[in-house]
Amino acid sequence: MIMSEPQPILDPLTPAAIFLVATIDAGGEAVVRDTLADVQGLRRSVGFRLPGAGLTCVTSIGSAAWDRLFAGPRPAELHEFPGFVGEHHQAPATPGDLLFHIRAQNQDACFELAMTIGDRLAGAATIVDETVGFRYFEQRDLLGFVDGTENPEGKGAYAAALVGDEDPDFRGGSYVIVQKYLHPMAEWRALSVEQQEKIIGRTKLDDFELSDADQPADSHVAVNTIVDADGAEREILRANMPFGSVKDGEFGTYYVAYAATPSVPELMLTRMFVGTEEAAYDRLLDFSVAVTGTSFFAPPLDFFDELPPPPDAGTAEHVQPNDIGSGSLGIGTLKRSMHA
Ligand code: HEM
Repeated sequence: MIMSEPQPILDPLTPAAIFLVATIDAGGEAVVRDTLADVQGLRRSVGFRLPGAGLTCVTSIGSAAWDRLFAGPRPAELHEFPGFVGEHHQAPATPGDLLFHIRAQNQDACFELAMTIGDRLAGAATIVDETVGFRYFEQRDLLGFVDGTENPEGKGAYAAALVGDEDPDFRGGSYVIVQKYLHPMAEWRALSVEQQEKIIGRTKLDDFELSDADQPADSHVAVNTIVDADGAEREILRANMPFGSVKDGEFGTYYVAYAATPSVPELMLTRMFVGTEEAAYDRLLDFSVAVTGTSFFAPPLDFFDELPPPPDAGTAEHVQPNDIGSGSLGIGTLKRSMHA
């Protein structure tokens, strides 16, 4: 099997992150294509001047944007975020064509790259959400619980997060879901630590999972632990970051999950919002309000080296000047199908 190199999806959590979500303006497709082809170069220019910053960027593309940008094969399971409606809580679907998940040890590195990408997209795409994420104490969320402990590691992380042989054109890619959640902090703080632990399903100070006897069926951990009939756990790779604004009274968790198939995080969201056989919904939702929700696909790195031709590149007259400028010969599809 030829493994396409993934984007830096499996990298460990960093102290700083910026999430940029953008929509493509009418007629902005050619500039966006050029920018997508250049993101790793821009990242090198910024990151090389900041040794030790570990600057990375994972670039992802939404379902409708895919058809506006590229001819040729699509990732097999790419679709819009469906939204989830439960009796008590809802997860809205919100616009987004592009996601730039920028991570580094320091915020200056993230900001410089975000600004550079924003400059390149000016006039071609509109940034509809910018969230500055930060590490909060020992990888805790703003609710005070350590977040990320049970993420899969090693081979398990590859299997959970990356597309494999089931979609050879997009091997090494990953499906991405992002959601912004806001926490009503006063209500959360009014609970005892013991009540909070029953809602999350782990202890607060030292982050141990509650015993089966103490684990409520509607805790966040119980609702999100999904075991197949053959005993295998269905997993995703989460890279959540806290964010907030004291002025706006916003205290939140930016949820970002990478998965080999969107069906796994979508099943988790169904269980959280619509319920399971044992739980009406995930109790964490009483203290976490979803305000955005968007789905994307993060292609493997070599996809950006040779972008597929644009959808209207059938004849020579339709080749965009920008495509010539970017050095693309429009043979991306051919090259990619040879990889397969
Ligand atoms: C308000 C937003 C969220 C917060 C604050 C949050 C927080 C947490 C915390 C503290 C844990 C326990 C430690 C750990 O294993 O990471 C956890 C586990 C987990 N969360 Fe979330 N989470 C949020 C949203 C979500 C969403 C939307 C999903 C899936 C759609 C999800 C999926 C999971 C999974 C799969 C686990 C691991 C369960 C296990 O195997 O023990 N989380 N989360």
